[in-house]
Amino acid sequence: MGRAATATINLDAFRHNYRLAKSVAPTQQAVAIIKADGYGHGAIKLAFALENEADAFGVACIEEALELREAGIKKPILLLEGFFTADELPVISENNFWCALHSLEQIDVIAQSNLSQPINIWLKMDSGMHRLGIMPEDYRSAFEQLNALDQVNEIVLMSHFASADDFASSVTGQQIKCFDEACQDLDAPVSIANSAATLGHDAARRAFQRPGIMLYGATPFDNPHPLADQLQAVMTLTSEVIAVRDLKPGDGIGYSHRFVCEQPTKVGTVAMGYADGYPRHAKDGTPVMVNGQRTTIIGRVSMDMLTVDLTHVKDAKVGAKVELWGDNLPAAQVAPYADTIPYTLFTGITRRVHKKYINE
Ligand SMILES: Cc1ncc(COP(=O)(O)O)c(C=O)c1O
Repeated sequence: MGRAATATINLDAFRHNYRLAKSVAPTQQAVAIIKADGYGHGAIKLAFALENEADAFGVACIEEALELREAGIKKPILLLEGFFTADELPVISENNFWCALHSLEQIDVIAQSNLSQPINIWLKMDSGMHRLGIMPEDYRSAFEQLNALDQVNEIVLMSHFASADDFASSVTGQQIKCFDEACQDLDAPVSIANSAATLGHDAARRAFQRPGIMLYGATPFDNPHPLADQLQAVMTLTSEVIAVRDLKPGDGIGYSHRFVCEQPTKVGTVAMGYADGYPRHAKDGTPVMVNGQRTTIIGRVSMDMLTVDLTHVKDAKVGAKVELWGDNLPAAQVAPYADTIPYTLFTGITRRVHKKYINE
């Protein structure tokens, strides 16, 4: 009933992808990264789908972590961006959240805090990403200072990669070398692998992997990869054709007539637009499935609608099923046509799109 725009979230596929992340390092742990509302898929539903098997969950900030706790999630939750203000520390302690720490100033803030129980710290090193983290030369002394504090329980040594998806780049190897040298002899577990490193860099698999995008079924790589190719799409974004018309050469379609027909063209209008999160800058030629057949977008995406070429699509009429990405069309194949990556496609889906969970 009503407008058909729907994101179907397959929780079996999510579990399958988590198991794949675990299978590459079965004796180690995997923190399922479900920040940003589970990369747009719905963090609470995802967390419950994995509550019996995930080692821990990872989110960006305390608001996201509290949402999960309040929903009843009991597993450890890691705050990847750590704390922003001192008043978060007692809440982190009471809820037993694991907390990233990325600057020397934050050590003083913890030292001055009054906590009901000591907290687990993930001590982040800037091994080359140059975004967050303690510089390698300061890392050992930061570890020792934290280790001496009553407010601190266990410490995990952490870093993040800039280019793990790019096998041609030497940066990942340099980051691992830098990290390992700075951590030499520090007696603590290590976590450095995101999805790309979990799947593609043996040397990065340590005590805790931190898979994100792979859990949602999107490959982090540009090329086929034996493990990434086993991932299953979690979100399938669908809608319907709501109008069909036959146009003649010279007819333009949609705003600014970006697409002008060169030959007789059957065009379908689909109930899906940028206010649903579909990227407005998707080019003519962006792939889309109609009735299970691959065709393309023609004309500019508008707020609530987009237009597709039905000229060669069989049985193309009002009500035809449209898949924007998902089971039959990987988001990673759509994203380049909008100069983006699957992360932004998934997180961009808005609340107007009905979310339907299957295989709960
Ligand atoms: C610190 C940290 N770890 C892990 C991840 C997961 O990365 P990915 O989604 O590429 O697997 C992220 C995501 O941005 C992150 O910021």
